[in-house]
Amino acid sequence: MAIFGSVGQAFQCRVANIPRLDLGLSVDVYSPDLFELMHRFLSEEHRPAYLEIFRANQTVLRSVRQHISSAVPLTYHGEGLWVTQPDFPLMPYLEQDLDDVAAQLTILGSPWLNHECATKQMAGYSFGTYLPPLFTAESARVVAENIALVQEKMDQVRQPDQEFGPLFVLEMPPLTYFMAGTMSVPEFFDLVTELVPCGLVLDIGHLWTVYRYTAVGQQLSLERFVDRFLDEFPLERVIEVHVAGLSQHPVAPPHRERGAQPEWLDAHDAPIQPVCWRMLEQVLVHPRLVNLRGVALEVDTKPIEHIVEEFREATLQFGALVRRRLHQDSTAGISVLKRAESCLEKKFGSGVDRRRLQADYARYARIATGQQSPTGPEWQAVADAPAGLNRYIHEYLPHEILHWGGDIAEMFTETWRGMHEEGNSLEDFVLWWFQQPRSVDRPYDFFLLKIDRMLEFVVEREPGLLTVAEREASMLRTAYAEANQTVHPIMEPTR
Ligand SMILES: [Fe+2]
Repeated sequence: MAIFGSVGQAFQCRVANIPRLDLGLSVDVYSPDLFELMHRFLSEEHRPAYLEIFRANQTVLRSVRQHISSAVPLTYHGEGLWVTQPDFPLMPYLEQDLDDVAAQLTILGSPWLNHECATKQMAGYSFGTYLPPLFTAESARVVAENIALVQEKMDQVRQPDQEFGPLFVLEMPPLTYFMAGTMSVPEFFDLVTELVPCGLVLDIGHLWTVYRYTAVGQQLSLERFVDRFLDEFPLERVIEVHVAGLSQHPVAPPHRERGAQPEWLDAHDAPIQPVCWRMLEQVLVHPRLVNLRGVALEVDTKPIEHIVEEFREATLQFGALVRRRLHQDSTAGISVLKRAESCLEKKFGSGVDRRRLQADYARYARIATGQQSPTGPEWQAVADAPAGLNRYIHEYLPHEILHWGGDIAEMFTETWRGMHEEGNSLEDFVLWWFQQPRSVDRPYDFFLLKIDRMLEFVVEREPGLLTVAEREASMLRTAYAEANQTVHPIMEPTR
C-alpha cells in the first residue's frame, strides 16, 4: 500500500524546498510600525527568526525588504483571494489580484502564500471580517480546485532557480459564534488536502473558537477536544502554526452561563491566553507534525512592549521544542500516518456543482445577515442552538459595518449630521447595506468599499447631500492613498 498518493508526493516535493524558519512574528507593516518594532528587538536577546507580512502596497513591501536585515526571511500573508467561493474563477478582478499577489511574493522572496480558508465577500454581500466556508464535501472540493488555480499561477512566476512557485498554504479560519456544515473541520481539511498539494496553517486561537462554538467541543474538556481534533486533522500538511490573542468582542456584554467557556473571538491585539500556550504544546508534541517550517505569533495591532514580552515567553517556553520539530525528518512521521491512500480515486471536477453551491452560499449570506432562517442539514446545529448566530447578526455585524476598519460616522461627519436631521439612522445604513446583493467592481478593500457604499446610500436616501458626501469621500480617498504609499500611515489598515 502506498503511503503517499500523487497529491501527497507532490506536496512532499514542494515542501522540501521550503526553508526551516523557527519562531517568528506575523505582522502588519503599519500597526504597530514594523521598523519601530524591529528596532525594539535589537536590544533583546531573542529576536524573531522570520516575519510573515500581511498584504500591503508593493512600494511599501519593497521598502520593508530593503530595510529589514536580509538575515530575516519574509513570508507573505495574503488577503482577498476568496478561494472558498464557487464564483472565485469568475471574479472580475481575479487576474489583477493574482498578478499583484505574485509581485508581492517576489518582492518579499516568500516561500509560501498563506491565505485564510474564509471569505469577506459572499454572493454579492460584503463583510469586514472573515466568514468560514460551509463545511461540506462539495465546498471542500471547490476550495481545492480554486487553490489549484492559484497555485498554477504562482508556479508560472517561480524564480529561475526554483522548481516551484511559492506554496499555497491554507489557514484554518476562526469561527465567530457559529459554524455551518455537515462535516467536521478536520474532515473538511482532510478532503481538501487529499485533492490538492497545498500546505496548511494551524492557528491555535482559531482552534479554540472551534472548541467554543461547536457542539462537539462543548461535550469534551479542551485537552481532550484538541487531542481528538489533532488525531483527525491532516497535521502532516501543517507547515506553520499561528498563535494570537483571544478576547471578548467590545460590544458583546458577557452572556456567560454558569460553567460555560467565555465568548472569546480571535483578536490579534489581545493577550495570548494561557490556554493557547497549553494548546500549542499539544500541537508541537504531536507525532504527525512532521513538516513544520515555522511558528509565528500574530501580533498586528498589539502594543510593541506586549509583543516583545510574549515573544520572550514563547522563546523560553517553546524555542527548543520548535527547533526539534523543525529539524525532524519528515519521513519519520510516515509510520504514524493514519490515513490510507485514497486520493487517487478522487478526481477534480467529479460532480462539483458550482451553481448549486453558489446558491448555498447566497443562502448562507442571507442567514448570516438575518434575512433568512437557518434551515436544512448544513444549518441544523445552528437552528438547534441559535444564540451564536443571533449574537453575530445583532451585535457583531452592525459593529463591523459601522466601526470596523473605519468609523462611518467619523469618516462622514458632515454628511451624517445632515442624514440624522432628515431622520436617517446608522441602523438604517446597516439594514440597507445587506438589503440586497451588490456588484463588486474592485479588488477587496473594506475602507474603500465603505466610502462607495456610503455614497450609494446618500444617492438613494438623501440625494441633496451628495455634494457634501462626495467632498468627504474625496478627502478620505486621498488621505488613504497617501497613507498606503508610506510605512507611516494615518489610518489603521483593515485586516
Ligand atoms: Fe492566523
